[in-house]
Amino acid sequence: MGTDKGTKTIDFNNINGNKPILIRRCTLEDLEGVIEINEKELPEDYPYFFYKSILDNFNESFLIAVDSNNIVVGYIMWRVEKIPAIDSLKISNKGHLVSIAVVKGFRRLGIAKALLTQSMQEIKKRLIDEFVLEVRVSNYTAINLYKKFNFSTQNIKYKYYRDGENAYFMVCKVK
Ligand code: ACO
Ligand code: ZN
Repeated sequence: MGTDKGTKTIDFNNINGNKPILIRRCTLEDLEGVIEINEKELPEDYPYFFYKSILDNFNESFLIAVDSNNIVVGYIMWRVEKIPAIDSLKISNKGHLVSIAVVKGFRRLGIAKALLTQSMQEIKKRLIDEFVLEVRVSNYTAINLYKKFNFSTQNIKYKYYRDGENAYFMVCKVK
């Protein structure tokens, strides 16, 4: 653990041979790099204010991986959704994985696993009941990753994506 621009950091050394990768909180200056990765690696794009609102409201679980030149090579962002229960006055909190991506040259090094592990610990502090996410049914890579973190498919959201592809709605109960 260290301090970087007042944020919590984790040293994540030598996962890429001799190139150190650092996992830390996203800052305003990093947003451009995050958006660039999203546009390159995922078909779902969001407007700038959407990233900014996640940064403002859920900064502790908006994490990035940076290389030794402080270039963003991966990110993860979550938000908390408060869902009223149908049969009581209780509110259930869900940690919703909004988006995760790692640039191609840095894949299969454990960066996504590190981003997920750290951010799930952070979002859990918001007293959520479960972690939830949607993933394209064709995205075996991501589905494999989520299964490793004990997510399981709760249902299918038909034609969830703009191009008509279905999504698995995956859930992981908080213990
Ligand atoms: N084939 C099969 N399984 C894979 C692959 C692959 N090519 N790559 C990763 N995995 C699975 C494996 O289970 C792997 O564990 P292992 O290495 O012990 O076998 C596990 O994922 C973790 O691997 P990491 O190295 O931590 O993953 P990486 O840093 O490469 O990032 C990611 C994975 C984020 C899915 C990356 O491939 C990516 O950016 N893809 C494009 C963007 C994307 O699809 N994001 C998810 C969309 S859904 C959403 O955001 C809610
Ligand atoms: Zn979603």
